[in-house]
Amino acid sequence: PAITFIHPDGKSERIETADGESAMQTATRHGLDGILAECGGNAMCATCHVYVDEGWLARLPGMADDEDALLDGTASERLPNSRLSCQIKITPELDGLVVKLPERQV
Ligand code: FES
Repeated sequence: PAITFIHPDGKSERIETADGESAMQTATRHGLDGILAECGGNAMCATCHVYVDEGWLARLPGMADDEDALLDGTASERLPNSRLSCQIKITPELDGLVVKLPERQV
């Protein structure tokens, strides 16, 4: 599967991912500046914030309470399509997922 990341300046990058990897791991493995992931994927930092493309939102698994709480503290504004990319586990069904990177993570 592959994910497309759209940078705040509008440039997009399609990156190959692996089943079982999180969207955050895909981004950090490729050195994307837009994802910091300070806590390493433990739903404790909110520096892996992304805006999920509207068409994909309903296809993601639901949000746990800890993710919901952390999203209230993101550096860039929380929007209805905000998610933590470390909590998005890639499955074959998510091939082609599109997420937008926020302006800042801290
Ligand atoms: Fe820290 Fe996602 S990497 S919350």
